[in-house]
Amino acid sequence: MKNNPERYLAMIRSVQRWGRDSWLPGGLILLSLGMLAGLLLAAAGCSAAAGGASAPVTVQDGNLVPYTVVGIEIPKPLTSKPGDPAEGRKVAVNWLLGNCSVCHKLPIPARFHDMIGPDLDGVGSRYPASVLRLRVVDAKRFNRATLMPAFYKVQGLHLAQGKPLLTAQQVEDVVAYLTTLK
Ligand code: HEC
Repeated sequence: MKNNPERYLAMIRSVQRWGRDSWLPGGLILLSLGMLAGLLLAAAGCSAAAGGASAPVTVQDGNLVPYTVVGIEIPKPLTSKPGDPAEGRKVAVNWLLGNCSVCHKLPIPARFHDMIGPDLDGVGSRYPASVLRLRVVDAKRFNRATLMPAFYKVQGLHLAQGKPLLTAQQVEDVVAYLTTLK
């Protein structure tokens, strides 16, 4: 190449010409690079937002046991004593306690039940205990407009007089019962 200055010069020129004439492809390349960067930034923004939505929130409501909500779950039980499904079943059907059957169909014989909420038969195979726990504790965290009462909440409830509908242990018992409804 060095021995052939003419060819060398011609090559330089053609490169220069390409540079001059090729503002369009060059611009397109820049534009697509810009769009790619934009997309990457948007994706990063989305994942940051999603991360934000499931960031753990610790709830300290009056003198109730504090619990941590992660997304749609309360991963840790409220009590150290494991829930008892037989007790939970009693709480669920007791009109003065859970009274779940006033709104939900439950697999229990010869009972009057309404159909305001979904049939709870099989709910144990649809959701893990952690999701069921948040549903029972405070279903409004899942769906603001739900008719389902928050069973472990006093804040903002005027009639509760500092007492939740269920105790922490009763919540765990009900959750244990729900997980048996496969
Ligand atoms: C006043 C009516 C009402 C009562 C009482 C009630 N629920 Fe609900 N529940 C609902 C409604 C309505 C839904 C449907 C989802 C929504 O609206 O958030 C629901 C949804 C659920 C779900 C999710 C079911 C699914 O398949 O997605 C579970 C679990 C649940 N309830 C458990 C209970 C338990 C346990 C009790 C009793 C401790 C109870 N509910 C009491 C109305 C009620």
